[in-house]
Amino acid sequence: MATTAPLLVEKVKLAKAPLEMHYLGDRVLRQPAKRISRVDDNVRELIVKMLQTMYTQDGIGLAAPQVGFNKQLIIIDVALDEPTVPPVVLINPKILGSSREIALGQEGCLSIPNVFLDVKRPAAIEVSYKDENGRPQKRRFDGLPARVIQHEMDHLNGVMFVDRVESDIELTQALSKEGFAAKDVRPVKKGKKK
Ligand code: NI
Repeated sequence: MATTAPLLVEKVKLAKAPLEMHYLGDRVLRQPAKRISRVDDNVRELIVKMLQTMYTQDGIGLAAPQVGFNKQLIIIDVALDEPTVPPVVLINPKILGSSREIALGQEGCLSIPNVFLDVKRPAAIEVSYKDENGRPQKRRFDGLPARVIQHEMDHLNGVMFVDRVESDIELTQALSKEGFAAKDVRPVKKGKKK
């Protein structure tokens, strides 16, 4: 039986995030994540800790591999200033379709602090997933939520947003300024058809 208790996590910064972050160069970020077979209290406990960790660091999205869990679980919240708007939890997310329209937008990542660069992605997506209560959902997202979900879903495949940055010069400069190594980038091949 799935429970239906809402996730009550205050959107506040804690003195210390409950989960430890992993950063670019860390192998856990490059492994494909495993499906979650059952959404139980352990999974919900992880979701709560991930939300607290994300809010503490002012993030708008977080994927389980970033906090060391090799699971297909992502959370997003693009309304950090609105306490009553709930976050969106996506378990085993799958993209059913993408818009032909491509949008360019700036991205950052809690696993690559202070690096912000432009990335091209489909402007809208349709996604199937299970929510925090294990119920199947199908929803269309566009604008910022579509971008964040695609970014977080990349994490589940071991892909980082810097792998998609087209400007090599800007990328190398931004990474070295923050102490990250350009060798830890694994460029996504362009024009690859699925
Ligand atoms: Ni990220």
